Amino acid sequence: MALSPQWLDELRARVTLSSVIMRTEKLQRAGREWKACCPFHAEKTPSFTVNDEKGFYHCFGCGAHGDVIRWMTDQRGLAFMDAVKELAAQAGMEVPAPDPRAAQVAEQRAGLVDVTEAAQGWFAGNLASADGAAARAYLATRGFDAHTVQRFGFGYAPADRQALKRALGAFDESALQEAGLRIAVDDKEPYDRFRDRLMLPIHDARGRVIAFGGRILAPDKTDAPKYLNSPDTPLFDKGRTLYNLHRAAPVARQSGRVVVVEGYMDVIALAAAGIDEAVAPLGTALTERQIERLWRMVDAPVLCFDGDNAGQRAAQRAIGRALPLLRPGKSLAIVRLPAGLDPDDLIRQQGRAALDALLAAPASLIHTLWAFECDAQPLLTPEDKAGLKERLLAQVDAIQHPDIKALYRRELLERFSAFAFPPRPPREWPPRGGKPGTWQRGVARPPVPSPAHAAALGRAAGGGLRDHLESAVFAGLLRFPDQIMRHEAALGRLASRDPQAARVIDYLLDRVETLEPEAALPISADDSPVAHPDDSHFPFLRQGTDPDYARTVLAEAVALLVERPALEAAMEVATARFAADPEGALAEQARLRQRKLEIERRIGQMASNHAAAAAQEHGAEQAAQAGSGI
Ligand code: UTP
Ligand code: MN
Repeated sequence: MALSPQWLDELRARVTLSSVIMRTEKLQRAGREWKACCPFHAEKTPSFTVNDEKGFYHCFGCGAHGDVIRWMTDQRGLAFMDAVKELAAQAGMEVPAPDPRAAQVAEQRAGLVDVTEAAQGWFAGNLASADGAAARAYLATRGFDAHTVQRFGFGYAPADRQALKRALGAFDESALQEAGLRIAVDDKEPYDRFRDRLMLPIHDARGRVIAFGGRILAPDKTDAPKYLNSPDTPLFDKGRTLYNLHRAAPVARQSGRVVVVEGYMDVIALAAAGIDEAVAPLGTALTERQIERLWRMVDAPVLCFDGDNAGQRAAQRAIGRALPLLRPGKSLAIVRLPAGLDPDDLIRQQGRAALDALLAAPASLIHTLWAFECDAQPLLTPEDKAGLKERLLAQVDAIQHPDIKALYRRELLERFSAFAFPPRPPREWPPRGGKPGTWQRGVARPPVPSPAHAAALGRAAGGGLRDHLESAVFAGLLRFPDQIMRHEAALGRLASRDPQAARVIDYLLDRVETLEPEAALPISADDSPVAHPDDSHFPFLRQGTDPDYARTVLAEAVALLVERPALEAAMEVATARFAADPEGALAEQARLRQRKLEIERRIGQMASNHAAAAAQEHGAEQAAQAGSGI
């Protein structure tokens, strides 16, 4: 819809900027202007000014600048037209409709909002009534506090097929159907869509109720889908809507973070725990339009999906959709939750600190892409490895932006080379077969240790291992031997670069069948070459850690452990290139150093008590200790 510049000027003139900003910010008079702490960046002394005469706000700290419409789009997160409509409503101006059809659609939409808003009022009332007892009982099992229940507008749709029709009798049957609340099949009597369900309102960016999700009360009612959602209607476009956007957007702009979770309940659990900037798609993979919408709030939305297959597939699909859209500054960050836990479960079982710790260290898009492709297939043979390269390049191909495409190609190929063509390490003992420099299980290892020999080896390995992380990982694998084969390829890579580690890895792979899962330390010190680190802060070594969580952290620790020597190798390559291409080599070294710091930070967090506070306070210190190996 094209609005004339004159009309927009009139709109700006009729709305007093400070009065709009004052709704959410505390403004103080400063001469002809107003002052406040800037809502677009964190600060203690005010550098944000509002000038009503000029109709502009400006921040001298971060440069945020704009008029009243810009305020509504940037701070409130509204789409341009929504911002204009809301301001026009305040100013008592009519938004000109360009053609009668659009006007008709707009009118129809406005009418439908009355229907959905009325339905929400009725659902919420039902929950409080006698009819809502079972729903209240179910809701109580979810453990949300009263404030959260009220804020998210929980309601109840009774089991009756005509209850909504009776309650909302003021509206036409056709309007109820158009709003998605009633269903008509052929010439049978129409009936209420939502019956005997716990109801959640879905809002648009302006905070108007446009649709609903309804959850069954009984978890074992397997014949019915767990959630029933409104169909697409003139008001509700699933692929464009993000659950909780209207509450999350203003918070996200402040915190610079937005967390994308998989479901309604996850959003609500995060809010109940004090994380208000969470949104969720509505039962579908994240769409291009949703990604663009997220990017209007922050540069790198954090996807926080379940570590199980479904969650990881969802993350992969989101990444696949984001690649063609990537542009400078815009990306995704990815947090992988322990398998089988959604954010709601994680908070309930391990507390908010556990989630904070994960959110504080999301993986980058490129790292996740690399990790997904490495995990997709085995990587044992040259054919496997060539397959990895092909998959990586196919992903790169999807990127449209030329610079980003070139950078992804280069970085992924470098990672690939470091993995597929590692520099050959000097061997500490001659291989008894196989080619020098290639690690083959059992080929380059000393004889299987006798107990006495193993004790000596254990001391040597414990002392000689490069650091804390390495010994922790090996002790972790001993504790969770079911994970050893899962990481066989990665351990093989490590063994091929590090002969000391190779002995321990051989030992683990040889003994895997005989190890008992989760025995305190299944192999006693005198027959194991694995030293048990004295002070183990790693969750997978601590008694009482949830075993699934422990396995997930262990998997990440293995990945980090293997990546470090690959980085070192890449660093050598970069150094060797120095004479030919000093600029390129320098940039490459800087990037590698950056990645090394990231890894060390992550290791530090992992080893700290995985409480966020501890992670932040001691992260640097511990990273310095734990990461001294590279
Ligand atoms: P989940 O099964 O993860 O739901 O589905 P949840 O939000 O964690 O709900 P609880 O904790 O089991 O109550 C994620 C999202 O997928 C959509 C919903 O949007 C849900 O929030 N979904 C799921 C459906 O649309 N239909 C379904 O039958 C199931
Ligand atoms: Mn859930």
